[in-house]
Amino acid sequence: MLDIQFGADYYPEHWPEDRWETDAKLMREMGLGVVRMAEFAWTRLEPREGEFHFDWLRRAINLLGKYGVKTVLGTPTPTPPAWIVENHPDVLAVNSRGMRVSFGGRHHNCQSSRVYRSHAVRLLEAFTKEFRDNPHVIGWQTDNELGNSHDDLCHCPSCRTAFQDWLRDRYGTVEELNRRWGTVFWSQEYDSFRQVPTPAWNVTAHSPSLLLDWKRFHSDLVCGFQQFQIDIIRKNCPSHIITHNFMGFFDLLDYYKLAEPLDFVSHDQYPTGFFDNPQPGKTPSALASSLDLMRGLKNKTFWIMEQQSGPTGWTILGRTPEPGQLSLWTAQSVARGADCVVFFRWRTCAVGTEQYWHGILPHSGRPGRRYGELKETISRLKPVMGEFRGALSGAEGAILYDYEQNWSLEIQPHHPELDYIKQVQVYYDAFHARNVPLDFISGDRDFSPYKLIIAPLIYLMTPELEDKFASYVKGGGRLVLTMRTGVKNNDNVCLTERELPGRSGDLLGLEITDYDCLRDINRAVSWAEATGLSAEKWCDIITLRGAESLAEISDGWYRGNPVVTVNGAGKGKACYVGTEPNGALALKLADYLIGEAGLEPLARQADGLEVIRRRGAERDYYFVLNHGPEEKGFTPPAGWEPLSRENGAVPPYGFRLFTLRR
Ligand code: GAL
Repeated sequence: MLDIQFGADYYPEHWPEDRWETDAKLMREMGLGVVRMAEFAWTRLEPREGEFHFDWLRRAINLLGKYGVKTVLGTPTPTPPAWIVENHPDVLAVNSRGMRVSFGGRHHNCQSSRVYRSHAVRLLEAFTKEFRDNPHVIGWQTDNELGNSHDDLCHCPSCRTAFQDWLRDRYGTVEELNRRWGTVFWSQEYDSFRQVPTPAWNVTAHSPSLLLDWKRFHSDLVCGFQQFQIDIIRKNCPSHIITHNFMGFFDLLDYYKLAEPLDFVSHDQYPTGFFDNPQPGKTPSALASSLDLMRGLKNKTFWIMEQQSGPTGWTILGRTPEPGQLSLWTAQSVARGADCVVFFRWRTCAVGTEQYWHGILPHSGRPGRRYGELKETISRLKPVMGEFRGALSGAEGAILYDYEQNWSLEIQPHHPELDYIKQVQVYYDAFHARNVPLDFISGDRDFSPYKLIIAPLIYLMTPELEDKFASYVKGGGRLVLTMRTGVKNNDNVCLTERELPGRSGDLLGLEITDYDCLRDINRAVSWAEATGLSAEKWCDIITLRGAESLAEISDGWYRGNPVVTVNGAGKGKACYVGTEPNGALALKLADYLIGEAGLEPLARQADGLEVIRRRGAERDYYFVLNHGPEEKGFTPPAGWEPLSRENGAVPPYGFRLFTLRR
């Protein structure tokens, strides 16, 4: 593991060379140990085909190295130069209405284009060989935020052929595809794979099976676009690390697959959000969940490759972070598993699309409030970060998070506002409010380390997953399955053998004989004395077959219908939630599950402080974060020793650090 804790995204090519040394000195003074560079610098590295200019970058790398700042290099494939596009306009992507994107932004390339890939191979071969032995270069970032700005995906002839070839690999014969997709519907039976369209613009919706495979294909295509780059880097730079900057809950790609060949994941964390208007920013719990998801992709600590360091903005601007917020968000990233935090960007740029996406330094390049605040934060965190490098949270509960469930529900959301990620967040929020840590896991992971697994919306079901759930529960696990479990098979076709939720009905002790999409209404729910509970968007109408009802609908024609149930199976228990719970119902459920599974809140502090743990070999490290504008008192539990001089109440947008010997 690398002994570097902080860095910045640096664009020396945007500034005169005689400024670089000032930057390097300021970085050293601030405590930065790494920069990421060159991920958009194709035209400066190869201004004409085969003509490489690495000198300027070498000078920058070496100068920074003199000041103790190492370099991660980005492969500049998100920015195809004009000279490639001029000679090969077909490297530009085509949208679902058949329009080619124009040159001028970034990520305008088609991911399957052989011509584009051959240009990238030439540059990367030379680039990696040039810097493999440079002592200041430690590794590589592939491309930048892969999948970002791909709009409605490329539908050019090359992508269409690649999709058809992908389908042939998956189904073998077109007859098999016809059978599994059910193309008899609306006379869509194909005689050959070459007849299968991409889901381009049409007057009605395409087949759900085609749409799901299209999403799978596109994800694989982009993973492949990363893989050929990784192959070149591994071959030429075997001692370097390789990472990629992910985007939290971004969902065009299967992030488990994208993460697989990397040494570790990196993440871009922008707490005030991007271009939403009005701009609510993200809740502390939403920030927390995206960091936890990043840790979950490889069950490993990660880097932040872009941590917000100022107001965000392209054409419109976000709110200016209040004093303390940049520091707080940095601490939250570290607390949830970042071993290194790289700030985006070093200096606010004067040119181009992102003139108002502010960096640590303002346009003037003079250190100001943000530089001071982050320098102070680094001086507090850096000395202790080595102690818990690589340490995870030790969570005993997990959420099963699955890209294909999300995609299939994006294709048919049922309720216009049903959103897989938002529903996952409802469950996460409730545990976050109780300071009970959760991991995110894929369906492939070993379930046995967890006392509790919540698996929302397992809409696509396989017999293997049904069996895995059953043996987890029978072995003593606590499992939560929810509305729309087991509706379809992996081909996105409805299962018909049994009533819903299929074989999982035996585990859950129930059958779903009817359901109601709550288009214009929420249903009140009663669970003991709790108030304000409601069922939203959907309600299963449940017949109990052995399960016990914990909560019921208390109005409407199916008043009394069980909406949360529990069933004992072997040594464990399986719960079912036949709706999307509102916040109050999710909290009531979380309290029940925390007790039932024997999970321990990290601290029983009710007034909204976020408490996070990193579990080292002998010690635990606790972060206590105050996301509010008022100071908050905090009494550390027995045995917690403060890790710094600051103690007592947690200031507005402040944090405290403690350690506990186990
Ligand atoms: C990120 C991206 C950066 C920069 C930043 C601000 O998504 O990786 O290159 O564009 O946003 O817009």
